[in-house]
Amino acid sequence: MRFSITSLLVLFQLCSVFTAAQQQWPLHNDGQNDVVQWDHYSVIINGERIFIWSGEMHYWRIPVPELWVDVLQKVKAAGFNCVSFYAHWGFHSPSDGKLDFENGAHNFTSLFTIAKDLGLYILFRPGPYINAETTAGGFPGWLTTGDYGTLRNNDTRYTAAWTPYFDRISEIVGEHAVTRGGNVFLYQIENEYGEQWTDAATRTPNETAIAYMELLEAAANRSGINIPTIHNNPNLGTLSWSMDYDINHVGGDTDLYGLDHYPSCWSCNLEECTSVNGALPDFTLFDYYTNFQEAAPTQPSFFAEFQGGAYNPWNGPAGGCVSNTGPSWVNVFYRHNIGQKVTAQNIYMVFGGTNWGGLAFPSVGTSYDYSAPISESRLLGDKYSELKLLSYFIRAAKELTMVERAGNGTNFTNNAAVFTQVLENVQTHARFYVTVHTNSTLETQEHFKLNVSTSLGTFMVPQYATNVLLNGRQSKILLSDFSAGSQKIVYSTAEVMAVSTFETSPTIVFWVPTGESGEFYLEGAQHGSVMKCQGCSSVGFHQTQHGVITSFTQGAGFSVFKYGNGVTAIIADRTAAYTFWQPTLTNDPHVPLNSTILVAGPHLIRTAEIDGDTLALTGDYNTTTPLEVFIPSTRCTHLTFNGNPLSFHATPYGSIIAHLTAPAHTIASINATLPILSTWKVADGLPERLATYNDTNWVLANHTRTSNPNPPATYPVLYADEYGFHTGPILWRGRFSGAATGVFLNVIGGTSSGWSAWLNGVWIGSSYGNVSLAATNATLDFPGAAVKSTGENVLLVLQDNMGHDETTGVLNPRGIANATLIGGGGGNGAGLGFSSWRVQGNAGGEKDIDPVRGPLNEGGLHAERLGWHLPGFDDGDWAVGSPEEGFGEAGARFYRTVVPLRIPEGVDVSLAFELGGARESRLRAQLYVNGYQFGKRIPWVGNQVEFPVFPGILNYK
Ligand code: GAL
Repeated sequence: MRFSITSLLVLFQLCSVFTAAQQQWPLHNDGQNDVVQWDHYSVIINGERIFIWSGEMHYWRIPVPELWVDVLQKVKAAGFNCVSFYAHWGFHSPSDGKLDFENGAHNFTSLFTIAKDLGLYILFRPGPYINAETTAGGFPGWLTTGDYGTLRNNDTRYTAAWTPYFDRISEIVGEHAVTRGGNVFLYQIENEYGEQWTDAATRTPNETAIAYMELLEAAANRSGINIPTIHNNPNLGTLSWSMDYDINHVGGDTDLYGLDHYPSCWSCNLEECTSVNGALPDFTLFDYYTNFQEAAPTQPSFFAEFQGGAYNPWNGPAGGCVSNTGPSWVNVFYRHNIGQKVTAQNIYMVFGGTNWGGLAFPSVGTSYDYSAPISESRLLGDKYSELKLLSYFIRAAKELTMVERAGNGTNFTNNAAVFTQVLENVQTHARFYVTVHTNSTLETQEHFKLNVSTSLGTFMVPQYATNVLLNGRQSKILLSDFSAGSQKIVYSTAEVMAVSTFETSPTIVFWVPTGESGEFYLEGAQHGSVMKCQGCSSVGFHQTQHGVITSFTQGAGFSVFKYGNGVTAIIADRTAAYTFWQPTLTNDPHVPLNSTILVAGPHLIRTAEIDGDTLALTGDYNTTTPLEVFIPSTRCTHLTFNGNPLSFHATPYGSIIAHLTAPAHTIASINATLPILSTWKVADGLPERLATYNDTNWVLANHTRTSNPNPPATYPVLYADEYGFHTGPILWRGRFSGAATGVFLNVIGGTSSGWSAWLNGVWIGSSYGNVSLAATNATLDFPGAAVKSTGENVLLVLQDNMGHDETTGVLNPRGIANATLIGGGGGNGAGLGFSSWRVQGNAGGEKDIDPVRGPLNEGGLHAERLGWHLPGFDDGDWAVGSPEEGFGEAGARFYRTVVPLRIPEGVDVSLAFELGGARESRLRAQLYVNGYQFGKRIPWVGNQVEFPVFPGILNYK
């Protein structure tokens, strides 16, 4: 559905006289307790309303549990009050009946402690299906054979498969529920399973899907989940699992209705979204309000997923596509959602991370950076900063948790090119005016005055300052009767970034883009004065009977104004606002504003703690940086940063200023210590191509029938999953006797996959990969000299398996669908056939998996099976040879080098490996670091050359 301006105008006319009155809406809970409740307005936890502001990250994409705290601190520092985790069944389950929630990153319970300490609520999303651009959408490989039916229904074979996983994970998560002193408050069952109706408009029930959802709900509850369940509808049309929409009680409903939306394409390749929004003009906004009111009117408008970036497909741009969803995108789209009365939103992803090992599904490579606000290398950029401006506003705007739409249209301003959505708090009558270009795809400059109705009457504002500006892609939320702590802002044309009331009257941070003007009216204020002017001009304090109206223009930097009633106003331009932080002094996710302080300067403020008269801050910086804390100097006589005492001086306007001097180590100095990767050892990585290779311990591929719904063209069945191999390269050895002249092969490895074949050690051909072909065919001639007309011939097919497809493609097999010998005098293979096939994949198949690295790390290459990738392996008798020399003939080689690192203490360094190779190079390279697979480079199909590797995988000492 597109944002339709005409219908909104009609709505405006109907609603323009509306003054929100509090209608009685039902208060819901999950039927088990009152800890989490909700209504038409918002979620209520322990009796307190909250605007759920959440970011998604995946612990299984960071196999170093010690790093989770880093990412979660960055999530909290950005102003989020919630984090969302998918769990990945396949990561936890190497084989049917086996689960690992204990070893390494498989034990994720520390996430709960970290989130609790930081003050983040948790939305937990265990699947069983998750999608997430991961192999089989998070299903274990062993589930993909067809033996468990077509999956995601109430088939008893599938139910028996997911039950142990789902029960156990529900028990683990349930222990950390908000009902038991933890912070997990919502539990999502299934994923984008908008299947409740065979026809949503007529509410015709889909009984199978309903039965499946009821099984999941029952399993969660019997295993200790006593918090609300939710579901995320894939689009505006599915209208599934909402108690409100299910008027006939057909069943399967979750407690809360949720919606997912990716208005600007979920992929960096916009062509992947032509059937939906990739085809619309950039910055097209959508109408969600109507959908939420239709689907779930008695519930909060909740985005279980809203776009936070986009994944990068193999042929996408190197480094991703942050400019598709950059700072101005964040600015406009997230404000729009507030205007749509959304009060719960989970941003997918806030931190994407890495598809290490075999985590990726076929369309994407090693990176899952997602162009997210926190990059794969854990750095923060402008997108993060822009998000922070809005997050702190949401934290300050507690009144957003109880709003109605008070109207919308182009008549609220004196410029028809500006569209305004008005929200009004039904109790306090605080108003939020979300302004944006009427045609949001335009980049014009629009100046306007806004008509605000306040407790002190109506005003066309600004009255003194230059008109408000929407400069290109931008949205602004203007306010009236807004509570800033104990004080009231009668109106403001500058956006409020943050409010802090720690031991003082409120300190309010207003911000405008550099050089713009603003005006705000503080009720009860007197005697405004400029305490600091950095880039300020045209400042006017206009005393009224009820307070002071301040008008200003703000250039680069920030200025400080003080008022007789104790209010401090900080006026920052965008760049200065980006340097502000609001650490919390409490782990209450609701963040009372009197438990926050404001800090300006460094790259990141992670935490703040006040102990006696000492303020202890932790954070990150990379250059000489001023550090200014808005705290009365009487309250803080000692200041430490990362444990080191800092001297400081007090300013006349209620802050203290210290300095952080540039760290001794710089990127350049650390770079200079990095070893050059010059001394390599090499070994042949493909002895299996030779006829003499002994494969008697390989698995005999002899199935004559398959449960897979996509049967092969030739038999035996050569589908790797049914022989227990689910990840990475697969090797097939077929034997035949007789004078064949060639072979026809159809090999399925997923899009971008490739394969090569050898006859008796002689390479006979390859398929190099194509981003849109999941299977490729070739007829390969046998060179006369290679084929033995008497005796046994051995054909080796080495295929690169790109992982399993998602959704309805989960059962698409990986293997050889057709292997037909040609020639031999009897026509097209007549009389000729393979006498046997054997298959090999990762060492141990589904058994004896490396417990820490888990079931997805390795494939079936010789080196992977023999542990050549592990740090302890002795390569003493290997030859000297470097991957940069490369090799001309078809084969596989394994190179090893030792990389001594001595990264200085106290600095957080993100290192990456660069794997080059010209576009036309017909190679596939995999990178292992201390036994972990951390990169897959395919120049022929992909553009990723830089492969970040987490500290903890790399030994920095
Ligand atoms: C959603 C899905 C997520 C992820 C996202 C795109 O539809 O629920 O798991 O696949 O799309 O990145």
